[in-house]
Amino acid sequence: MNSSSFLDVFGYAPQATAKAPGRVNLLGEHTDYQGGFVLPAAIPQQATVMIGRGAGNVHRLHSANLNQTLSVPVGEVGTGFAPYLTGCLGLSGAPGAHDIWVWSDVPAGGLSSSAALELATLRALRLLYALPLNDVDLALLGQRVEHEYVGVMCGVMDQMASSLADTEHMLFLDTRSLDRRKLPLPAGTRNQAAQILVIDSGVPRRLAESGYNERRAQVEEASRLLDVTQLRDVQDVAQLSVLPELLHRRARHVVTENARVLEALKADAARFGELMNASHTSLQGDYEVSHPQVDALVALLQAHPLVYGARMTGAGFGGAVVALTQPDRAAEAGVDVLAQYPGEGRLVVP
Ligand code: GLA
Repeated sequence: MNSSSFLDVFGYAPQATAKAPGRVNLLGEHTDYQGGFVLPAAIPQQATVMIGRGAGNVHRLHSANLNQTLSVPVGEVGTGFAPYLTGCLGLSGAPGAHDIWVWSDVPAGGLSSSAALELATLRALRLLYALPLNDVDLALLGQRVEHEYVGVMCGVMDQMASSLADTEHMLFLDTRSLDRRKLPLPAGTRNQAAQILVIDSGVPRRLAESGYNERRAQVEEASRLLDVTQLRDVQDVAQLSVLPELLHRRARHVVTENARVLEALKADAARFGELMNASHTSLQGDYEVSHPQVDALVALLQAHPLVYGARMTGAGFGGAVVALTQPDRAAEAGVDVLAQYPGEGRLVVP
């Protein structure tokens, strides 16, 4: 928990405070850097950021989670958690030195803790300087922070979800046009909305960044060989047969995942769950971004009678899993499954 406040650390009251949530992606994984479709929802956990205009020419950046204050000269990027904040300061054009206090309860690993931090910081800066930026502008700035300051070549899903999604709906997003709409969760038993269950597998993410950038390069190579702008433009997996074996599997994941998202838009909970299970199989076999312990947790969930379907969520290589359960039964299913899971898992939602 946060043992400090902005006032304790910096000796004056903050001039702007903002929050932004993490997200869980229900379907549409590893499609957003090929112009594809995604279906995330916000989770209740959030990052909180407080800002004050500082003095001199050094930013003071305090993480209440780490109980650590970093000093970063204005114009420099810094290390550790600093680039997420100096990136937002730099790209929003905020002048001079700032004092920033951050705290977050978004778990690290698959639930967009970094997008939450970026969006909370950008919201606080928008407030402090009355910046004429809408929620999509903020999301795109957050993505640029990842690319230009953090060095992760992510798609736009996480920042769009943190900026625009809520916990009661799925955000259907076309990551090419940025067209989007909020949809209710699929209808389950007695026609009530199914419930989201999120479990942290406790498997720390290893080599996630290099694995992510490698996958991205592979599907870019596949789209070059197929002579399409992005794999989004491939409708039929038969078109992929000209690709070498590895690129064929990588591209097949993206093409079939896009089809699953589009089918899910009109699916009830039972069919939606089958599509989640198929997504996991594809991420495990074709895209190879899962982890044996995550697979074991997903298998326990898929076998549970209250669960419609389950899969890994986020970039993979460890981290969180998501399931869709019968209405109002998510906590019960989660507790049951965690009792059988040999790892250090924990319930994140509900
Ligand atoms: C990470 C990235 C997103 C997306 C997912 C995988 O969360 O930040 O842009 O590519 O992985 O779907």
